[in-house]
Amino acid sequence: MKPTFTEKLLEWNNAQNTRSMPWKGEKDPYKIWLSEIILQQTRVEQGLAYYEKFIAAFPTIQQLAKAPEKKVFKLWEGLGYYTRCRNLIATAQIVVKDHKGKFPRTYDQIKELKGIGPYTAAAIASFAFNEPRAVVDGNVQRVMARYFGISTPIDTTSGKKLYQELATALLDTEQPGIYNQAIMDFGAVICKPQNPLCSVCPQQADCEAFKHDLVKQLPVKEKS
Ligand code: ADE
Repeated sequence: MKPTFTEKLLEWNNAQNTRSMPWKGEKDPYKIWLSEIILQQTRVEQGLAYYEKFIAAFPTIQQLAKAPEKKVFKLWEGLGYYTRCRNLIATAQIVVKDHKGKFPRTYDQIKELKGIGPYTAAAIASFAFNEPRAVVDGNVQRVMARYFGISTPIDTTSGKKLYQELATALLDTEQPGIYNQAIMDFGAVICKPQNPLCSVCPQQADCEAFKHDLVKQLPVKEKS
C-alpha cells in the first residue's frame, strides 16, 4: 500500500525536519504549558527569548505561583495580550493550591484551566502525557485544506468541526506528541502560507491542491 499522509509526515520529520526549538521534546508539562501560552499570539522567533527568560526566572510552577505579580508582568512586557499573563499567574496558583503543584495529566482536566482552549490542551496532553489528541490551528488547517483539496472555509462552525475530525483521523495515536509537533513544523517549514516549498515537498504526489494548481487559493476563509 502506498504510504499515507501520516506516514510520509513522520518520515519527513525523522529524516529532514531540522527545526529546533527549546520546548521540542520537552516532557515537563509546566514548560510545555508556558511555551504554548507564549505562542498563542506570538510568533516563534519573538517567543523564544521570553520562554528562556521565564524558565530562568521561574524554573518551576511553584516559583511562578508565589512570584510577585509585578515581576511576572515585567517579564511579559513586549508580548502584549496581557490577559495571557493574568491567566498564567492564576493558573499557576490554581495548580499549586488545587492540584498539589502537580500539573493536571488529562486533556479534560487541562482544558478546565484558565487561558487553555482545545488547541493548548491538546498540545500539553499529547506532548507531556502522550494522550492522543490532535492539535488544530491555522497551520494544521492549511496543510489539510491543501493536501485534501478542501474548500470549506476554516472560520465557520462546520469548517472547524470538519478540520478537527480530519486532524483526529490523521493523528498517529502511538506517538501523538511527535505527530503534532511534526505537522506544526511541516506547516511552518514546507507548507507555508506564502511561497510554500512544493518542489521539495514529500507530499507533493498526493497533494490535491498541487495537482489542481490551487495551492495559492487554499485554505479558504469566509471573512478575510
Ligand atoms: N505554535 C504553537 N505551539 C507550537 C509549537 N509547539 N511549536 C511551534 N509552533 C507552535
